[in-house]
Amino acid sequence: MAGQVAWYFVAGLVATYTFLRALLRLTQHEKEPQTLATLLPFVSPLLGLGTQKTKFFVKLRDAHGLPIYTLRMPGSRTYVITSLSLVPALQRQIRILSFHPIELRAAERVMGLTRTGCEILGANMNHDDSYLGSFVKALHPALSPGPGLDEINETSVQLLAASLGRRKTAAGVDMFQWIRHEMFMATTNAIYARASFQARESLIPDLMEYFQKAYHEHGSPLVKCRFAYNTRHGLGPEDMARTEIGQISATVTNTVLAAFWFIWHIFSDPAVLEDCRSEVERLVGRDEHTGIRTLDLSRIRTSCPVLLSTWHEMLRYRHIGIQARAVMEDHLFDGRYLLKKGATVMCVIPALHSDTSVWGPDAAEFNHRRFVREDGAGAKRANAFRGFGGGSTLCPGRHFATNEALSFAALLMTRFDVRPVAGVWKEPRVDMPLTVSLPLPIEPVEVKIVPKAEQEWKVLFSASAK
Ligand code: HEM
Repeated sequence: MAGQVAWYFVAGLVATYTFLRALLRLTQHEKEPQTLATLLPFVSPLLGLGTQKTKFFVKLRDAHGLPIYTLRMPGSRTYVITSLSLVPALQRQIRILSFHPIELRAAERVMGLTRTGCEILGANMNHDDSYLGSFVKALHPALSPGPGLDEINETSVQLLAASLGRRKTAAGVDMFQWIRHEMFMATTNAIYARASFQARESLIPDLMEYFQKAYHEHGSPLVKCRFAYNTRHGLGPEDMARTEIGQISATVTNTVLAAFWFIWHIFSDPAVLEDCRSEVERLVGRDEHTGIRTLDLSRIRTSCPVLLSTWHEMLRYRHIGIQARAVMEDHLFDGRYLLKKGATVMCVIPALHSDTSVWGPDAAEFNHRRFVREDGAGAKRANAFRGFGGGSTLCPGRHFATNEALSFAALLMTRFDVRPVAGVWKEPRVDMPLTVSLPLPIEPVEVKIVPKAEQEWKVLFSASAK
């Protein structure tokens, strides 16, 4: 009896396998990019992605060396781009390979937008003057270099400096929790001019009240821009609050993770620390009469090339992000590959960031000076760096995030020592959700923050234009 059951089981498996293989063959056009992970058709990619997340895409690139391939999963087909050579073609087709349906899905599922809100966001979404088509443009006065950006930058660095200045004695902290708290408070206060936003559900009534009582009028140019834009498009108070949550998450999540890994790379390697600290210390002034030390954080970006390079290298080396696009109609991509309507295209940033033909044989190593090299490879590398995406969806928050992280690191290096409690730096285990750009530490990094000798400081931000 047991033997018969086993026989039926094996026969069932063989029949299922044969059926799935036939289904794959019959539904895959020969001009589509080659299918991979077909050991168990439809199931292998699901298992691979579930267990290895972004690493799975890179592993398949390493094993097969294809610039683009297809993953077939139940009910979906995904085309995975792993080569820089195909990025220009992706960036050119902004309407056929569109970001907007992905944004709309996130607004619906993650932010929980109402039906009316979804209709407003989804209306004519591929037109330049639609809500999604012109949203980022509306943020430029607040996030592109100029007075709006200077205002947010200045507030956030002053808040960081004030908070760090209150640390007068050595204390142990979990480095990630601590950085998250500092950055969250500085960022949300710089944007909203109010500090009580914490968890998601309580945030919705808080934000509704915030807009209804017109507190945004005292907030940053960024929140004013968003309010004006949402009002113009007829978004109601609840949807306005819900889209704002999406913005807080886009602003804070990646910035916090990036700041964590930036501080990690600086402090966990004495050579990096020495290079970066000596650069920042050159910017510190001292009043001969009062002894007060001054640091103008608006000069960090232009005067500290190694620190800036360390930031870019961290984003290159640690990035796990994916740029997803929806295929709006059947399309012969780059004149060669058939992409089918309804599928998703994914451009895998860690695959581009680990390409030895661009980054050289040491692509797998962290080299904090990589972006200061002047060996003629600069332009090629600048093109290949996708830390903030690229093309029409290039991250509008990159200037703000860069300034905030550089300033935080500079304040820490000049005023504190950061020492691992265990005596040695141990890299934390991480999770790699597909929705974020950098790995999430899932175990504590216990450090001691030790203030240097008692000194009085004046931190300035004399504006980026100067
Ligand atoms: C280090 C921190 C950050 C990283 C690594 C990062 C990364 C990215 C990347 C890779 C994209 C491109 C997404 C795509 O093409 O699919 C993007 C887009 C975007 N980012 Fe950031 N970002 C950061 C900080 C910020 C901040 C501070 C803000 C807001 C103030 C922001 C707002 C946005 C928005 C609104 C988009 C969508 C652009 C569009 O729809 O065209 N990001 N970001």
